[in-house]
Amino acid sequence: MKALRLDRLLANLGYGSRREIEGLARARRILRDGAPLTDASARIPLDPDLPARMSVMGELLDPLPGLCLMLHKPLGVTCSHKEAGPLVYSLLPERWRRRDPALSTVGRLDKETSGLLLLTDDGALLHRIIAPKAKVAKRYRVTLARPLQGDEAAILSSGELMLEGEDRPLLPVEMEPQDATHCTVTLHEGRYHQVRRMFAALGNHVDALHRDKVGGLALSDDLAAGEYRILGPDEIAAIFSQ
Ligand code: URA
Repeated sequence: MKALRLDRLLANLGYGSRREIEGLARARRILRDGAPLTDASARIPLDPDLPARMSVMGELLDPLPGLCLMLHKPLGVTCSHKEAGPLVYSLLPERWRRRDPALSTVGRLDKETSGLLLLTDDGALLHRIIAPKAKVAKRYRVTLARPLQGDEAAILSSGELMLEGEDRPLLPVEMEPQDATHCTVTLHEGRYHQVRRMFAALGNHVDALHRDKVGGLALSDDLAAGEYRILGPDEIAAIFSQ
C-alpha cells in the first residue's frame, strides 16, 4: 500500500502549504478514526477508505489521487485558457484547483457544446482514453439548421469525407437520423471542431451539440448541467467496453 507523509498528502490535495498542515496537525484539526493526527511527518497509508475515515477541519477528506469524474458540461464554459469565459474547473470545489497531480479534462468540448466531459488526475488513464489507437468512440446528439438530405449517413460512413484544410479523410462516422434536423453521430477520432466542420462539409450547419456517451459510458440522466460525480472502477472500465 502506498503511503505519504501527512503534510505531503494534504498539501497535494490543496489544503495548504506543508507548514500550514503542520499547524493544523498541532491544533488537532486532522482526525483519523476519530483520533487526532498531531505529527505532520507521520506516514499515512493511502487506504481506499481513508477519505471516509479521516477529516480535516471537521470535514471528510477529499478524494485521494486517482480521481476520475463525469461532468455534465453546460454551455458557455470552456475547457481551455485559450478560450474566453469561465473554465470547467470553476464548477468543481475550489480546493481541487490546487491538487497535485492536477485534474485535467480528457480531451475537450467546445464552449458551445454541452454534455459528458471526463476529468482525471491519472495521466495514464487519460492517455488510454484519448490515444488514437484506443479508438474510444464518442457519441453526439446534433441539432441541424437545415433538413437532412438523405445521403449524409452514406457519406459519413464512407471514410472518404475530407474536411477543409486537411489532407487525410475522416475515419468512418456512424450517423443515425432522428428526424429532419436531428441525428446522432459516433466518432472514432477527435479532430478540431470535428462535428461542426463535418456538417459544414456536408452543406449544413450545427445549431446545437451535446455529447452523451464516451466509449460505453453514458452521461447519467440524474446529472443536471453543471453537476459532476466521481466514477467508480466499473464505470471507468465501461469507457473501454463499447
Ligand atoms: N465536435 C465539435 O465540433 N465540437 C465539440 O465540442 C466536439 C466535437
